[in-house]
Amino acid sequence: MSKYIIQPGNKLSGEIKVHGAKNAALKIFPATLLSKQPCTINNVPEIEDVFRVIEILKQLGANVEKTGDHQYSVDPVPANSCELPEELMKKLRASIMFVGPLLVRCGEVKFLHPGGCVIGAGKRPIDLFLAGFKAFGAEIKLEDGWYHIRGHNLQGAKFFFPKISVTGTECLMMTATLIPGKTVLKNCALEPEIPVLAEYLNKCGAKIKGAGTSTIEIEGVKELSADKFDIIPDRIETGTFAILAAATKNDLTITNCNPEHVEALWAMFDRNEIKYELKNDSIKIHGPKSIKSADLTVHEYPGFATDLQPPYTLLMTQAEGNSLIHEPIYDRRIFFIDLLAQMNANIILCDPHRVVVQGPSQLYGRTLVSPDLRAGITLVIAALCAEGQTTIENIYQIERGYESIVNRLQGIGVDIKNVK
Ligand code: EPU
Repeated sequence: MSKYIIQPGNKLSGEIKVHGAKNAALKIFPATLLSKQPCTINNVPEIEDVFRVIEILKQLGANVEKTGDHQYSVDPVPANSCELPEELMKKLRASIMFVGPLLVRCGEVKFLHPGGCVIGAGKRPIDLFLAGFKAFGAEIKLEDGWYHIRGHNLQGAKFFFPKISVTGTECLMMTATLIPGKTVLKNCALEPEIPVLAEYLNKCGAKIKGAGTSTIEIEGVKELSADKFDIIPDRIETGTFAILAAATKNDLTITNCNPEHVEALWAMFDRNEIKYELKNDSIKIHGPKSIKSADLTVHEYPGFATDLQPPYTLLMTQAEGNSLIHEPIYDRRIFFIDLLAQMNANIILCDPHRVVVQGPSQLYGRTLVSPDLRAGITLVIAALCAEGQTTIENIYQIERGYESIVNRLQGIGVDIKNVK
């Protein structure tokens, strides 16, 4: 089993480049099944989660090839299975993104409840997806843990999301592109990956209006062609690297990013009195001398991303004063604070959605196990703020989402080794 060994203390400087967005790539690969032509995808992050969706496509029968630097081509034509592979479904929440495209392509689909990061109570629910498919007229059966959805005569429908869901919005939007009639989705998520996916599907012949607003209208078409898709920069990587610079009090430039997608973090940095300079596709963080604490409430986009809550909570352990962190979206995501407490952070858990951080704390290096992707990268940043060596185990849970993270961190001066 590999682990990271991190020695703090180095001065960090220079540039760190952001890769393509994981949560855009995880939708575009499944979306290729909607068309009957090969598609080229650029700026693909080469991370474990993306390798898993590529494996799923291959197991369904599609041809997927690496055709260049971070470029992949998918030929969906030979795909001939409507059953999603059990082991891969268990590994990855985003495997649910294949369900809609397979349903409209084959008229039926069989799958298991998806796995992925344990950040919500029990299994992360898929009720919104199922309710959407039902609204389109699909029949759903659950037998021995397998869902079997049939829908040979689906019809466009009106659907209101009782809870805002990113993948739920993307799934029903993609599925509706090939369903006859008009679909109107209300209370949709607004994350930037959604209008980008819609823009791609429209280039392929779909008729989607309103993506990026809370109401999306889709007029079903008979077929889609294919086009090339350029994956946008990863906004969570962008914010994570910005927090890394601030928490370790180093100057750092983050390149290849879209600062507009992380506005909520800049608003928090203003309150934390952390200085930064935004350009079109880069950000310079000025390592602060001291950080002012500020309460945080996570919110759906354009609010503060839940995926940046763990690194922000760590940042507050290095700030002067108390801060209340409120994470309303997931009810287990905040439990990683136990690991920060093991490093000597002063954090009080109020309930599954709230913690109070009392900063600043001197953190100490420990041996820790990464519980999930965003908590895992947070432990890496915590290790850089600490005194003494930190060992992080279960690094699959970090490399699922951050490509060549060891090399990129070494590039800015971090003393980190991946030890097999
Ligand atoms: N929810 C339901 N029923 C559903 C679906 C979701 O109750 O059928 C609930 C969830 O349990 C959660 C809330 O709705 O409480 C919002 O979840 P959402 O569906 O928006 O999350 P997601 O689409 O499963 C995506 C990202 C997550 C990110 C969230 C929120 C992907 C592949 N994943 O998840 O990313 O945290 O949106 O922004 O796009 C990550 O990258 O580490 C990650 C977990």
